[in-house]
Amino acid sequence: MLCQDSGTRTSAAANGELMLRNNESSYGSVAKWLHWLIALWILAAYVIIYYILGRHHAEGPIPGLDYHKAVGFSILIPVSIRLYWRATNPVPKHPPGMPKWQIRASRVSHFLLYFFLFAMPITGYLGNGGGVNYGFFRITPFRRTGLGNWIMETFELTRQQFEAPFDIFHYQIVGPYILWVLILLHAGAAIFHHVVQKDETLIRMLPGRRAD
Ligand code: HEM
Repeated sequence: MLCQDSGTRTSAAANGELMLRNNESSYGSVAKWLHWLIALWILAAYVIIYYILGRHHAEGPIPGLDYHKAVGFSILIPVSIRLYWRATNPVPKHPPGMPKWQIRASRVSHFLLYFFLFAMPITGYLGNGGGVNYGFFRITPFRRTGLGNWIMETFELTRQQFEAPFDIFHYQIVGPYILWVLILLHAGAAIFHHVVQKDETLIRMLPGRRAD
C-alpha cells in the first residue's frame, strides 16, 4: 500500500508495508534507493577516471574517457529526481538533543553535496571540448551550441580561455581534493551517529530498515 498521510503511514510501517514517501521520522524507499544509487554512481565515476588515468601515460587523447563522461553526466538524472523528492516530501527530523553545531554542519554539508553533484557534471561538460559520445549519450560540445558560440564571440574568448576555469574546478580542485573528502565526512558522520550516539540517523537511510 502507498501511504499518503502520517496516520496511515505509521500503521503501514508497523505492518511492514512499502513506504514510498518520507515521513518526519524516517526516509521512504524512494529517497533511500536514490541515495544509494547516487553513491554507487559517484563511486563509478571516480573508479573509471582513476583507472583510465592510471593506465594513460602518454600525451594526447585519453582512451576510454567517454565512459567517465557518460557515467558522470547521467548522474544529473538521479540527483535531480532526489532533489525534487526532497522538496516535495517531509525531511525527517534530527535526533532529539542533537547539538546545534551538528545540525548546522549537516545542513551545510548536504547543501554542498547537492551543489557539487550538479557542478561536477556541468563543469566536466563545459570544460571538455569533445562533448559526450558514448552509446546513446551524444551530447554536442557546449562551444558548438548556439549559446556557447554566442558567449565565446561576445566575450571574444578562445576555446582555451573558455574551458580553463571549468577544468580547474573539475579536475584540479573539486574532483581530486574536495568532493571525495566531503563524501567521507558525510559517511563518517553517519557512522559516528550509529556507533557513538547510537541514534537512528544511519538506520533510517538503510533500505528495508525503518526507524519508526
Ligand atoms: C559527478 C560527476 C563527475 C565526477 C564525480 C567526476 C570526477 C572526476 C575526477 C575525480 C577526475 C580526475 C581528477 C584528477 O585528475 O585527479 C575527473 C576528470 C575528468 N572529468 Fe570528470 N567527473 C564527473 C563528471 C564528468 C563529466 C560529465 C565530464 C564530461 C562531460 C567529465 C570530464 C572529465 C574530464 C575531461 C576529465 C579530465 C581527464 C584529464 O584530462 O585528466 N567528468 N573527473
